[in-house]
Amino acid sequence: MLLKKNKEIDVNNIPKHIAIIMDGNGRWAKKRGLSRTMGHREGSRTLKKIVEACYKLGVRYLTVYAFSTENWSRPKEEVDDLMKLLLEYLKNAERELKGKNVRIRVIGERRNLPEEIVNEIERVQKNTEHIEGLDFIIALNYGGRQELVDAVSHIVEDVRAGLISEVNEDIISQRLYTSGIPDPDLLIRTSGEMRISNFLIWQCCYTEFYFCDVLWPDFSEEHLIEAIISYQGRQRRFGGVK
Ligand code: FPP
Repeated sequence: MLLKKNKEIDVNNIPKHIAIIMDGNGRWAKKRGLSRTMGHREGSRTLKKIVEACYKLGVRYLTVYAFSTENWSRPKEEVDDLMKLLLEYLKNAERELKGKNVRIRVIGERRNLPEEIVNEIERVQKNTEHIEGLDFIIALNYGGRQELVDAVSHIVEDVRAGLISEVNEDIISQRLYTSGIPDPDLLIRTSGEMRISNFLIWQCCYTEFYFCDVLWPDFSEEHLIEAIISYQGRQRRFGGVK
């Protein structure tokens, strides 16, 4: 499947950083008369395939929106099931990714997360921190505005401590959860919704957006390749002229 479409893809212009809003799990489940949790479970299977595809294609960073700071307002049962799924994923991550050079990082607010999850995050991050290949970044309990609030608070502390005397773009970028990670080149959102929903709001300043109608559990390697081909057809100007 990859090979067929690979003919059209420019292997020399693979986006370095892809961000994904994995939307549509609930609708996918509803269409089949299944619970929303089943949709998330299927979405988690899709994610495994997409991580693998990104690795094969030579994407350097993949960031996915797994749970937003707003998602706590969902029914308790759904939140609990999502946390269970995330815990399961983190516990099995190294075994699943064995033989592939994938480093796992988790961004977002640690406060409010169950202790078991925080421990797993720390374990998996430490165990994979030496790996250079694909950086797989999971946004968990993440909100772009909260990230900026945290960054500003750190800056205030640093100014008070006399560590910095001015604020510029680099100073802000360095205090975000994504410090050291380049901004996304391509943001994909599935399920037909066309908004950014508080995801990487600072970092997506010049990111190319790709929206598709496919519900996340149905998203495949082929869809990913279609998104990359669309990205490769764009002229990125970063505010200048070409
Ligand atoms: C949005 O679909 C999806 C989420 C809020 C959760 C995304 C989580 C996963 C794909 C599961 C696993 C992730 C990891 C890292 C293991 P929605 O439920 O809002 O769908 P809807 O708009 O159709 O209701």
